[in-house]
Amino acid sequence: MTAAPLWRIECEADVVCARGEAQKWLESRGVSRVLAAETALIVSELGQNIVKYGKLGSIQLRWNAQKRGDLDIEATDSGPGFSDLNRARMDGTTSAGPLVRADGSCRSQALGLGLGLGAVERLSRRMSLRNRPEGGAQILVQKMLYPG
Ligand SMILES: Nc1ncnc2c1ncn2[C@@H]1O[C@H](COP(=O)(O)OP(=O)(O)O)[C@@H](O)[C@H]1O
Ligand SMILES: [Mg+2]
Repeated sequence: MTAAPLWRIECEADVVCARGEAQKWLESRGVSRVLAAETALIVSELGQNIVKYGKLGSIQLRWNAQKRGDLDIEATDSGPGFSDLNRARMDGTTSAGPLVRADGSCRSQALGLGLGLGAVERLSRRMSLRNRPEGGAQILVQKMLYPG
């Protein structure tokens, strides 16, 4: 794979494939194993969210036009979009509300732990979330891969 990757995401198998290809594509460009793994993890988290919440979507990698050595990871989907853009990036906040209730019990109906986007943000230079006017969510992550 030489061109910057673009993956269509519809099911878990697509996410597995994208995660593995991202790792290989970056390592083949001299990116360290650890940074490639962090990027592959971002691809995996955004991909799983597309499958869970966005129905159908895509993930694209491209080199950042302004900051040399940074990679943009863009995920878009055709789902309902974020119901709350601020809460989405908060750790432990799931589709069903806070994962752990005040009495310490966990919500079993949640689709995940609510820890994905918080981790993605910590692993990146910046992360922006928005709902597209035409519908669906867009997540843009900027990741530094080559120091410079
Ligand atoms: N593509 C998306 N479309 C709509 N809502 C989303 C999308 N991705 C994430 N969210 C919302 O943001 C919340 C936090 O996402 P995340 O941290 O990945 O947690 P989790 O996947 O475990 O629920 C989700 O619970 C969901 O409500
Ligand atoms: Mg998630």
